[in-house]
Amino acid sequence: MDLSFETIPAFVWVFITIYVIYWINNPRVNKNEPPMVPYKFPIIGHTLDYFFNAENFLAECRQKYGDPFNIYVLGQVNTIAGNEIAQEVYNTDVFNLPSAMQDIFPLHLVLKSHNPETIGQVIKTVREGITANLPLYTGRMQKQIMISINKEIGNCSNPKLIITTNENFAGIIARPLADILVGQEISKKEDVVKAFADFTKDFLSIVAIPPILSFIHPKVHIQFIALLLIFGWSPIGKHVTTLKKHLRPVLEKRLEDKKILDDKYEPPLDIIEYLMDSPEYETKVITDDYLNKICEFLFIIVVVSIHTTSSHITCALYEFAGRPELWDDIYEEQVRIDKECNGELSSQLINKMVKLDSFVRESLRNTIPVAASPHRCLETYTLKNGMTIPKGRVVQTYIMDIHYNTTTYGPEPRTFLPYHGLENNLSASKTDKNYFIFGSGRHACPGRFFAVNEIKVGLHKLILNYHIKTPSGKTEKKVQIGPFAFPPVSGLIFENRKK
Ligand code: HEM
Ligand SMILES: *[C@@H]1O[C@H](CO)[C@@H](O)[C@H](O)[C@H]1NC(C)=O
Ligand SMILES: *[C@@H]1O[C@H](CO)[C@@H](O)[C@H](O)[C@H]1NC(C)=O
Ligand SMILES: *[C@@H]1O[C@H](CO)[C@@H](O)[C@H](O)[C@H]1NC(C)=O
Repeated sequence: MDLSFETIPAFVWVFITIYVIYWINNPRVNKNEPPMVPYKFPIIGHTLDYFFNAENFLAECRQKYGDPFNIYVLGQVNTIAGNEIAQEVYNTDVFNLPSAMQDIFPLHLVLKSHNPETIGQVIKTVREGITANLPLYTGRMQKQIMISINKEIGNCSNPKLIITTNENFAGIIARPLADILVGQEISKKEDVVKAFADFTKDFLSIVAIPPILSFIHPKVHIQFIALLLIFGWSPIGKHVTTLKKHLRPVLEKRLEDKKILDDKYEPPLDIIEYLMDSPEYETKVITDDYLNKICEFLFIIVVVSIHTTSSHITCALYEFAGRPELWDDIYEEQVRIDKECNGELSSQLINKMVKLDSFVRESLRNTIPVAASPHRCLETYTLKNGMTIPKGRVVQTYIMDIHYNTTTYGPEPRTFLPYHGLENNLSASKTDKNYFIFGSGRHACPGRFFAVNEIKVGLHKLILNYHIKTPSGKTEKKVQIGPFAFPPVSGLIFENRKK
């Protein structure tokens, strides 16, 4: 290397920067805290172990240090909470999920109204507007799912390999959700369905930026992204424009109708109507500000609901396709229920799909990251075991420790137990000490009943209509990236069932 005069200052700068980062972030762990797992390299700490070998690394730490313990990742100390401690974390309001999510999933940068108050309204809207009305939405959901299945899988008189990574299943889930959110008229527009299906994927391009600057501080990384957005990068702008375009005339017409018809106005059943009726979102005119506010609100629901549900239905389908021993039993249940209702499902009949439900629960139990769902500690807190968690600390949920618990799931907790839920009277949407897929406690996912119903209706229709196999004939491996898990990518083979 040519150490010319100019490169020396560069070296000095690099040296100073590294020293400053080290000095700022050198982890200070108090006496009463969970044990700190030792590491070799300053600054880097456990970052590489965590992103490239999370499963073995955390398992070893858990064995050596118990529950909980501290690790040092991306310049920050993180507490890893396993089976025992996670229960406590989820049941105390001192630990807050949205606050910690902001650092890794900065939705507030593109949806300005994403703040604690709006999240509260979103939760209320999902509870009152969606969950409480599930029976009324079932028929519409089923119709929309069938439209998607016919479009995206279609007639497979010869076996057809469908590559699931092309977001096929985001489309299947986006259509019924669009129907519920923006009503039966707008949800017919293919560009709206596409905007809903693609929104999260395009937003994730923000999350995919390597968080190098987080070594200095997570906020620096977020500021960097904010800067890119200020300078015109807009991965989701087109989706907002699409939705606004279709939303305006419909909202205007509804206001008009309400004025003219007065008592005779028959409110459509959907979330935009729910919003226009709520004190926070009622209006007399549709201004651009108002449209933005409604659009942002709807996209917040889209982000929490579509990608989650579609990747779980995809994984469940892979589990089914890779386990021929389950095919007859589960198919038989679907045929029986289909006959009972002549193809027109009701909420009650969805509840009767008990084998399918149990299978879905088991698929959800096995489709998990190693650790996820960070919660920020808002006030210094002393755990029941006497250990202290300082204010500001991020606590990660060690979800594999919770879901692969030998007391509950037997000595081989990773075996697929399709009827565990059925045998223990636990439905797929029921949270439980060793089932955290929807979180736990008061903040548990308010959309879980809808999500499970959608997954069940989707699987029910697919299993009735097609033989579904994996290319290998066996279960396919999920894709592991860092501590996260994604659906397999082999594709699935669909073939019409002869009726
Ligand atoms: C299989 C699909 C889904 C999974 C695995 C899932 C999982 C979760 C989890 C783990 C949480 C955090 C819970 C906690 O803090 O304890 C959550 C929160 C939430 N979920 Fe879901 N969810 C799914 C589908 C849905 C759907 C379909 C909706 C809406 C229709 C929804 C709406 C929400 C909302 C509004 C929150 C609160 C968000 C927040 O506090 O920031 N979810 N979900
Ligand atoms: C499916 O395709 C086959 C041949 O391509 C055709 O014979 C059959 O009628 C089609 N079925 C439906 C339901 O469209
Ligand atoms: C499994 O979970 C239960 C309930 O949280 C807990 O009491 C038990 O100790 C756990 N078993 C193991 C082996 O960690
Ligand atoms: C099964 O669980 C449901 C709801 O969690 C409960 O209402 C019902 O009584 C339980 N049935 C049995 C047989 O334990």
